[in-house]
Amino acid sequence: NIQSIDAFQIYDSRGFPTVEVEVTLENGVTGSGLVPSGASTGQFEALELRDGDKSVFRGKSVFKAIANIRGEIAPALQGMAVTDLKAIDGKLVELDGTENKSRLGANATLGVSMACARAAANARGVPLYEYLGKGQGTLLPLNEIQILGGGAHADWAIDIQDFLIIAMGAKTYEETLEMTFNIYHAAGEVMKGRGKSVGLADEGGWWPAFDSNEEPFEVLLEAVRLAGYEAGKDVAISLDIAASDLYDGERYHLKKDGTSFTPSEFCDLMIEWCEKYPIISIEDPFADTDFDSWKRFTEEVGKRVQVIGDDLFTTNIARIENGIDNQLANSVLIKLNQIGTVSETMAAIEMTQKAGWLPVVSARSGETEDAFIAHLAVATNAGQLKVGSFARSERMVKWNEVLRIERSLGKRARFVGAELYQTIFG
Ligand code: PGA
Ligand code: ZN
Repeated sequence: NIQSIDAFQIYDSRGFPTVEVEVTLENGVTGSGLVPSGASTGQFEALELRDGDKSVFRGKSVFKAIANIRGEIAPALQGMAVTDLKAIDGKLVELDGTENKSRLGANATLGVSMACARAAANARGVPLYEYLGKGQGTLLPLNEIQILGGGAHADWAIDIQDFLIIAMGAKTYEETLEMTFNIYHAAGEVMKGRGKSVGLADEGGWWPAFDSNEEPFEVLLEAVRLAGYEAGKDVAISLDIAASDLYDGERYHLKKDGTSFTPSEFCDLMIEWCEKYPIISIEDPFADTDFDSWKRFTEEVGKRVQVIGDDLFTTNIARIENGIDNQLANSVLIKLNQIGTVSETMAAIEMTQKAGWLPVVSARSGETEDAFIAHLAVATNAGQLKVGSFARSERMVKWNEVLRIERSLGKRARFVGAELYQTIFG
């Protein structure tokens, strides 16, 4: 049972304050949880509680969230069975009492929830993925890996947020990483050759010093060729448009190109890109309020392109349910801190899978050295993992953790690669 819970301010991959929680059980076993943080956050996400005093840590300190853990959550959870994560998370939701965790902070509730899950796995002496998945999680994910960063993660050097690759031809999890290695470094060479090599964006992808939103496609396709792969066969392009950031309520703006579009024109453009380039997956092509475009786009390309809702769904069961009822997409991005407990996150994954849609377990642009999501992806047989790029330890720790999980699973490990998409493409 839970003896004590403590919390501390640590720093994320952008050097911003975040929450670390440590749970100690009566038998001395401990577990920790480190909370990530987004930059292009959706308006329907659970609230990340920051102190907001501009004179202290630029307003970004999390001492209130920590005080809520120490003062309210810890006493309320003391003595509870750590292995009943549903009851713990239910208690957190009840204690907070708001729709969006705005009283205690989703960074407070999530840190506690993650730490309890870890402590429970440690108490049972099993890896986290075994504990969370009750021994049923055996599917290694097909990775979605960023090659070029943009949008809010690269000071709007280009408008599109993520240019990613999916190693469609990979036969094993390890091979997805080898293919990514080859393409990531080839892309670096291509950038250098074009005199456009200026560093890395927030998630470790190359910083896109480009003159348009289409130049990244050229660079990406050149890198794939240079690495010896065939685009559209061995490797496909995946995009995160993060379009809520481009929409002013009436029009979508691509500032780098000096263009703007009505929702239906922007929908035409997204369809055109899907025809012109070997795109297998596209995330947030429209704003989280532009349901008409989502519906039309999914109708037109959803049988050959994975259409992922991130800001659209914010890992929120009611929003996902609405999306399923109205066929707004065919895939859901899953982020723990968008909803604020592990149990609710797992329920969101389950609902997605039950509808015949695909979940993509995802990191945030502000990350930590915690590899929790690698375990979550395998535990739930989610099948896909998105962590940013192929550089920087807060990213690599997740890719590497899946390698360790693969070794730990041994013969039980499964990898189906791009066959996964048959679920949604039929
Ligand atoms: P964020 O970006 O963590 O800054 O929200 C990731 C994403 O949009 O998928
Ligand atoms: Zn996104």
